[in-house]
Amino acid sequence: MTRHRLLQALALPPFLEQPLAERYDVQRLPPAGPDRQTFLQAHGASFEGLVTSAAVGYDQALLAALPNAKVISSMGVGLDKLDLPAAARRGIPVGYTPDVLNDCVADLAFALMLDAGRRLSEADRYVRSGRWATAPGTPASAPFPLARRVSGARLGIVGLGRIGRTIARRSLGFDMEVRYHARRQVPDVEWTYEPGLLELARWSDFLVVITAGGAATQHLIDDKVLDALGTKGFLINVARGSVVDEAALLRALQEKRIAGAGLDVFEDEPRVPPAFFALDNVVMAPHIASATVQTRHAMAQRVMDNLEAFFSGQALPSAA
Ligand code: NAP
Ligand code: 8YV
Repeated sequence: MTRHRLLQALALPPFLEQPLAERYDVQRLPPAGPDRQTFLQAHGASFEGLVTSAAVGYDQALLAALPNAKVISSMGVGLDKLDLPAAARRGIPVGYTPDVLNDCVADLAFALMLDAGRRLSEADRYVRSGRWATAPGTPASAPFPLARRVSGARLGIVGLGRIGRTIARRSLGFDMEVRYHARRQVPDVEWTYEPGLLELARWSDFLVVITAGGAATQHLIDDKVLDALGTKGFLINVARGSVVDEAALLRALQEKRIAGAGLDVFEDEPRVPPAFFALDNVVMAPHIASATVQTRHAMAQRVMDNLEAFFSGQALPSAA
């Protein structure tokens, strides 16, 4: 069996690196810098394909250094770091991993809604700090403050795609009223389309951002949207950090112009502005919405399926 040469753009989970190495002749791309350039000049032409991820992607320069690349397989559904036009100009199919991660991302959106709305992480800190316990002779600890109800709340979804629709379906379990905003109305769905993002924010108790990343959605959520969401509203971002004006969000949280936020993604991750760390009205996660054993294995399998299909002369199961 031919062992096709593949370039691996980043470290991947062992449960993907192992099958890749068993099936293909894989080499890791050196870290950015002179060694990478030397490596690509010496070996770039030997690779028939590229394996990457939504987090790392590839750019035109890397693709140009792989003149014989015929397929790209990315782990993840986000395409904002992948130069699709550059691949299209060369007729290179790009595989990615949609759908297999919908449920886990939707689950995390609800986890962040529940945490932010019911102040769960804040409550955990309250207990761990000992503030709940009243030491003898000291004034009683301040009772833990009231939170906001999630069941029956108004859920606004920005981006009713694969994951957005999964989030909307999840809302049934919480008796939430759902409206959504996207660039166009989605046919044949039961949820109300709101053509105006500001109007959706004004209406929402929880505004969940689940659009694609990239230039078209850069800072889609800005000061105006946050002020429309208002002092009783919560912003949940499980899309990309770039979709939210993070400086505006920080100010809105500090000034309590919104009630709180739940964030899985950040503009310059993994660097998060330290000013967020001092705030009790934000819960943060390190881009883990798809990071479950089951989902990451399913994503890894889809990476392999896309490659296998290509080298068998078939259409990719999931082509971007
Ligand atoms: P999808 O099916 O392509 O849905 C993307 C949605 O974004 C569509 O409804 C699209 O609607 C909307 N959209 C795009 N541009 C927009 C704009 N300018 N204004 C308003 N809506 C816009 O993708 P998906 O599978 O649901 O995934 C969505 C995104 O979630 C991914 O691209 C990725 O960035 C993110 N994600 C994050 C994690 C994580 O770990 N946190 C995991 C997986 C995915 P229209 O085109 O009709 O406007
Ligand atoms: C992953 C994601 O964290 O699929 C995406 O677009 O953001 C997440 O599933 C990312 O792809 C890194 O593998």
